[in-house]
Amino acid sequence: MKRFLDLADFSREEILDLLALARRLEEHPEPRALAGKILGLVFFNPSLRTLSSFQVGMMRLGGQSFVITPGQGTWQLETRTGAIMNGAAAEHVREGLPVLASYADALGIRAFAEGKDLRHDLAETNFKAMSSVVDKPLINLESAMNHPCQALADWKTLEDLRVPQRAKFVLTWANHPRVTPLAVPAATVHMAAQRGMEVVVLRPEGFALPPEIMDKARAAAAASGGSVRETNDRSEALNGAHVVYAKEWGSTTHYGDSVGDATLRAGLTDWCVRENWFSKSASDCKFMHCLPVRRNVAVADEVLDGPRSVVQREAHNRLPAQMAVLHRMLSNGGAER
Ligand code: CP
Repeated sequence: MKRFLDLADFSREEILDLLALARRLEEHPEPRALAGKILGLVFFNPSLRTLSSFQVGMMRLGGQSFVITPGQGTWQLETRTGAIMNGAAAEHVREGLPVLASYADALGIRAFAEGKDLRHDLAETNFKAMSSVVDKPLINLESAMNHPCQALADWKTLEDLRVPQRAKFVLTWANHPRVTPLAVPAATVHMAAQRGMEVVVLRPEGFALPPEIMDKARAAAAASGGSVRETNDRSEALNGAHVVYAKEWGSTTHYGDSVGDATLRAGLTDWCVRENWFSKSASDCKFMHCLPVRRNVAVADEVLDGPRSVVQREAHNRLPAQMAVLHRMLSNGGAER
């Protein structure tokens, strides 16, 4: 494996194979598998889980990692192609990333959406420009419109819990004080569709996922035998749900307009997931969220602390899922697969 940028680059069978490797590494640790290998981690945005789980994953496989947070102890890096660099950034990623890649065996990059121009972000303009100058194996640690590591861990969580392939999976919008990116909802709707689930995206008006994201998920569903639809009818969406996955995201009708977005969401404070949301769901309906989460804004304490919540398992699964990716990418013979 040379690149892990998008679950859509892999067949359903290849992902199940990767998850089998994740389970094998959980049961039979391989503390020397990546001895002598080095992973460079570049974080343009904050992280708790992605940062720590990749560092720990490398350590548990016998390798090492280094972390760069541009502008914090290192030069600030410019990411925009063609930028006139008379501002804070002292160095461009076109120089900086190849340097870092030359020191490492693989690189991971986190670079969120700029959040100004939906077309620019949907095209993954910045991430593609960065990946084009990296000649080593590359991992997407969350880009403008994708978070494949989270999606892989979430798929593993669904398998661990033996959630049936055709179960009803509801991705619901949740409130947040600020605009947040589309990367996780885009990756999640695609993951559940690729797994073959009945996927329902529940969101208020103004927060519909872009057609590009929905069409990609529908193509995955067509191949797996699943389905994907959107609604703003909460009662109908939750009826019979086996999994409710909450995520906050910014308005797509007011993309790049924080005032318009804030005005829209001011009337949506009831989009905080509460226990009474689950009255029409299957009795053992699970609750998922990728974290971090704003308690009692996006999700109520009673849900996060209750028996249906699997958010800790999801976060833990980042580790074995990513260890499988690292193993495929960096172990002897892994690069050929
Ligand atoms: N879910 C997730 O990616 O968490 P972090 O932002 O903390 O890495």
